[in-house]
Amino acid sequence: MPKLNIVILAAGLGKRMHSTLPKVLHPLAGRPLLSHVLDTARALVPEKICVVYGHGGETVPQTIADRKLIWVKQEPQLGTGHALMQTLPHLDKKGVTLVLYGDVPLTKVETLQGLIATAAAKYLALLTLELDEPSGYGRIVRSSGDKITAIVEEKDASKAQRQIREINTGIMAIPNQYLHDWLPRLENRNAQKEYYLTDIVALAVKDGVRVEAARPGHVWEILGINSKVQLAALERIYQNESASRLLEQGVTLADPARIDIRGQLTCGGDVAIDINCIFEGAVQLGDNVRVGAHSILKNVKVAAGTLIAPFSHIEDAEIGKNCRIGPYARIRPGTRLASEVHIGNFVEVKNSSIAAGSKANHLSYIGDAVVGKNVNIGAGTITCNYDGANKHQTIIEDDVFIGSDTQLIAPLTVAKGTTIGAGSTITKNTPPQSLTLSRAKQMSIAGWKRPVKKTKSGK
Ligand code: UD1
Ligand code: CA
Repeated sequence: MPKLNIVILAAGLGKRMHSTLPKVLHPLAGRPLLSHVLDTARALVPEKICVVYGHGGETVPQTIADRKLIWVKQEPQLGTGHALMQTLPHLDKKGVTLVLYGDVPLTKVETLQGLIATAAAKYLALLTLELDEPSGYGRIVRSSGDKITAIVEEKDASKAQRQIREINTGIMAIPNQYLHDWLPRLENRNAQKEYYLTDIVALAVKDGVRVEAARPGHVWEILGINSKVQLAALERIYQNESASRLLEQGVTLADPARIDIRGQLTCGGDVAIDINCIFEGAVQLGDNVRVGAHSILKNVKVAAGTLIAPFSHIEDAEIGKNCRIGPYARIRPGTRLASEVHIGNFVEVKNSSIAAGSKANHLSYIGDAVVGKNVNIGAGTITCNYDGANKHQTIIEDDVFIGSDTQLIAPLTVAKGTTIGAGSTITKNTPPQSLTLSRAKQMSIAGWKRPVKKTKSGK
């Protein structure tokens, strides 16, 4: 592979998005369009990556926040050729420059490798494609000998040229030695008064440099985003591709059309995922993990054999082997569950560790707690971790049994083997193996009469 420079053009306006957010920052699969292009660019291991930005100002470099990138501001935006001219001082004299668009997010690395290899042989390499509906794109003009002679923009094209179905995707690889010569020679005598990068094709022909075209494997690799309609369509394509990959790996998906992956989902063997689940960030599911319908997992590791029942929401957590979570569980950041832990419906766990075999099956809040082994937390138990100013820790040692509707006022240690009577408010540490309860004595008044409603007449 030659010395590689990559330029990502991302200065355009994106008027049709009807948004104040710069176009390249709109999310696809939960991440900015530009981040997808940057992933692809980095996978090609270039010497440098220049990003041309303009519209939206500093928001773009600030959001992407990568100091290794060379950010080049283009203002005003006078066309794709003008955009590339701004990067010229940064480009090497030798090697190849690959041009990508910040709003074309799904181009495959293999497709680009082919293009780069062609340019390394000192040809101008264009990614082109035949479309049934070519309107809007620049057209590839070929000679009678089928040699590429020019790219003509739709607005400048003759009626005959508009019939051409081979289009310019905009993605191209250029030998640097020619690029340094061609860019200063571009002119803006055209319908849009812009400096067209595409005009380098005619310059190549003039200089006797061969122009070669390569095809992408899929049409979606070259699709750009100009509107929310196109963004939504490309999102579905992306999700469909992700789902297909999982199916090919042997993951069971109840419906490949109803899963959304916004990050990296890694699955072991015999994983089954029901409908409408969302996976964000890095999620790892071990062997035989089952995820129930409508669950949302973000940055979660789930060990083998665990069942996540429907409508569970889990974020920044580690779940051990053979656990049972949900339905309707909420597991918040900083939670670590060991093996065979049960977290049932309407239980919220935050920043807590729970050791093997412990259970909180119904309606509880466990926050800032360290829970030992084989603990049973009764329905409605609350760790009162917050005093209005600070958070405090609750320690619940092994083999504790907590009766229903108990409040544990932190900081607090419930010692090993304690039983807490239902309905207690526990404010002091308990001694081990004790029964501890705090409860008003029950009393009954025999023969007590209920009040009777007065009538209007007073009788
Ligand atoms: C361009 C190509 C056209 C091709 C089409 C594919 C030219 C002259 N035309 O068309 O042949 O079929 O892409 O989509 O190259 N940009 C800048 N600065 C500018 C202008 C554009 O950074 O001054 C960036 C945009 O943000 C975008 C990309 O370049 O990422 C392409 O710009 P766009 O206006 O969408 O391309 P077209 O001119 O329609
Ligand atoms: Ca344009």
